[in-house]
Amino acid sequence: MLSTKQLQEQLEKDIASVSNLNSLQELKRKYLGDKGVFKQIFKEFSKLSAEEKKEYGKVINQLKQKLLEFIDNKKQDLLESSIRAEEEKQDIDLTAPFNVNSSSRPQRYKTSGNKHPVTLEIERFLDVFKRMGFDVVEGRQLDNDYYNFEALAIPKDHPAREMWDTFYTEERYIPAVHTSNMQVRIMRMYKKPPIRTVIFGKCFRNEEVDATHSHTFYQIEGLYIDKHINVSNMLFTLKSYIEGFFEQKITWRIQPAHFPFVEPGLELIIRCVFCNGKGCSVCKNTGWIEAAGAGMIHPDVLRAGGIDPAKYSGFAWGLGVERLVMNKNNINDIRLLYLNDIRLLKAK
Ligand code: FA5
Repeated sequence: MLSTKQLQEQLEKDIASVSNLNSLQELKRKYLGDKGVFKQIFKEFSKLSAEEKKEYGKVINQLKQKLLEFIDNKKQDLLESSIRAEEEKQDIDLTAPFNVNSSSRPQRYKTSGNKHPVTLEIERFLDVFKRMGFDVVEGRQLDNDYYNFEALAIPKDHPAREMWDTFYTEERYIPAVHTSNMQVRIMRMYKKPPIRTVIFGKCFRNEEVDATHSHTFYQIEGLYIDKHINVSNMLFTLKSYIEGFFEQKITWRIQPAHFPFVEPGLELIIRCVFCNGKGCSVCKNTGWIEAAGAGMIHPDVLRAGGIDPAKYSGFAWGLGVERLVMNKNNINDIRLLYLNDIRLLKAK
């Protein structure tokens, strides 16, 4: 039987001679295999006295542990260097700040990224409303004139159409100008109140782009129809959300507004966080930024959705997601949200 000293010397010599995966495999087989050195030692173990077993066993276990660790680490090193050698033969991207083929790129380039601040806010929003019992529906991006306008009490040649700078496809389809295009669809889909639904979707407008206007942006529409629904239900719902959303005290107010599909209609405006209401280029010197349109659903719209306005009433709102994200995160130009600036994309 080998003494612990002999075993240690032999093991160290064998470890030092490992240079590739084959010799590593050979080392493993020699010491840990079925007929390996350690199996052999344990077989002869029974011949030792209790005192010797204790002494000898302790050292043997330590050596075995050391060998196992060596095998693990060496295997990893050998694999990585063989991958690197393979990668070096491949094409490289000279513009990348690291070797794109390398598995050993710096840690700061290894992160998998995170969701866009607008996506995060939409998810938070939907989550809050789901917990309040609302269903979630995604808005249609391409729709017809009926759902975008007619069903919302905006017939052809009605001056209210001018409120939305609309794109049309050659076939006269409309990239949704607002998520309100889903209102009558939802009513027809659910058929009978209570209806509690939030709709998130992209909107497209032929806008003069500026700090608060984009040609493409997100809205979140809410729809609540049931018996005895009134303006205070609507205000309470909006207030709960807006105050929770900002996680800090902000000043906001509502003011009357006209949308043909609601009566009464209102706008929710928030005091411009960039100038604290004094007036600046972001709020166009008004001190306020419009965040949402809302109102009690017009009886004609309920009828278009197959719902009897004598029995039911409801409210709806359409909220601009980017405007809220801008105000919450001190981003003073909506265009910054879509420039892929890494500092902004990291915002949580
Ligand atoms: C509407 O779109 C109505 N459909 C809202 C509504 C729904 C009223 C339900 C009543 C009942 P408006 O065009 O004002 O309304 O847009 C609503 C919100 O979308 C605005 O308050 C603003 O926050 C956002 N928004 C509008 N246009 C843009 C734009 N070009 N870029 C970014 N956000 C915009």
